[in-house]
Amino acid sequence: MTVTQEPRAAAEASAIESRGPEPSASRCVVVYGAYGHTGRFVVAELRRRGWTPVLSGRDAAKLATLGEAYPALARRPASISDAGALDRALAGTVAVINCAGPFLDTATPLIEAALRAGIPYLDVTAEQQAALDVFEHHGDAARHAGVAVLPGLAFYGGLADLLATQAMGEWREVDAIEVAVALDGWHPTEGTRLTGRRNHYRRRVVANGRLDLLPDPAPQRDWTFAGPFGMQPMVELPFSETITISRHLRVRELHSYLNRRALEDVRDAGTPAPVAVDAQGRSAQRFTMEVIVHRDGRQRRLAASGQDIYAITAPLVVEAMTRIVDGRCRGVGVLAAGEAFDAADFLAALPGVELEPVRFAQCAG
Ligand SMILES: NC(=O)c1ccc[n+]([C@@H]2O[C@H](COP(=O)([O-])OP(=O)(O)OC[C@H]3O[C@@H](n4cnc5c(N)ncnc54)[C@H](OP(=O)(O)O)[C@@H]3O)[C@@H](O)[C@H]2O)c1
Repeated sequence: MTVTQEPRAAAEASAIESRGPEPSASRCVVVYGAYGHTGRFVVAELRRRGWTPVLSGRDAAKLATLGEAYPALARRPASISDAGALDRALAGTVAVINCAGPFLDTATPLIEAALRAGIPYLDVTAEQQAALDVFEHHGDAARHAGVAVLPGLAFYGGLADLLATQAMGEWREVDAIEVAVALDGWHPTEGTRLTGRRNHYRRRVVANGRLDLLPDPAPQRDWTFAGPFGMQPMVELPFSETITISRHLRVRELHSYLNRRALEDVRDAGTPAPVAVDAQGRSAQRFTMEVIVHRDGRQRRLAASGQDIYAITAPLVVEAMTRIVDGRCRGVGVLAAGEAFDAADFLAALPGVELEPVRFAQCAG
């Protein structure tokens, strides 16, 4: 199956305006891709925080199945290729959170619908090209519409952006930012695998102050994590944080690494999908993300740890959406997380993320 093919239910979806009760108040937030693995975490997080999710996605039957767990929530099926159905899905809501990847296929139509509706758009893309397209193609229209558009509010992307922004502090310009992620394993979802196959673009890094292609083969190195992960063999593997950070932080070199064990897992076709081990549906996966900012031989380091990279995406994107709707977002247009919000305040508000304080150190040589 190619990624642009849609299940039969999608064709029917566009003909169905809405199923289930209509949203009643301005606490309604559309979750597109609501029945996906990440979408489900986002729906649960919205409810936990008192929002009313509107369940949307291209497959009416999958929405109906999800709706059995949430009979009070509106369901609005909409194919990504049907602008009218997307408009109906977003009607009367305060924001849309797009959890349907590959975002190379879904971001543009949903952003256009959000701008027509005059509501903020957020997604969870890890894809660099999808994030880059959003900045390059939708910035003017979003500013003109007075709407905030935030790509990559997720584990890969937004979390590193916020950590780097906080670690920068008052520094306006830095020599280098390094992002290092260690996972004790990575059981990928079907969406992760599909997105990997769909995204054939060469990855990018920041080198000499501008976006450049990641060398092939990707550089390898060791990284010593402060916590239980200790020393890990790493591969340079940048995600959407490269795009967002490079839009608002002045940095000459930006390099992101993933531990080799996680990369081997995700590249192995036999690695199973994540399995829930707790009442929140999280897998047992542990993560640590460290960010080091370098300037004039000095370093600042900040680390975040937690459980399940898919699950932690939900509080990230819901916190961002909440701040936009509450009026705590600095501006309109396409924005990176660290540009839109007070990074330290945002990170401190995140449930399920253990933060280590910034350390100030002299570079050893
Ligand atoms: N940046 C991060 O850290 C981060 C974290 C979590 C997830 N993600 C990304 O989020 C995406 C979803 O991941 P997941 O784990 O939730 O996967 P998943 O469980 O497989 O869910 C994928 C969802 O996307 C929908 N979808 C895919 N292509 C679509 C299209 N062309 N039109 C409409 N809907 C479409 C699927 O609908 P159907 O079932 O109808 O196909 C499904 O609802 C992936 O791209 C993943 O990389 C990123």
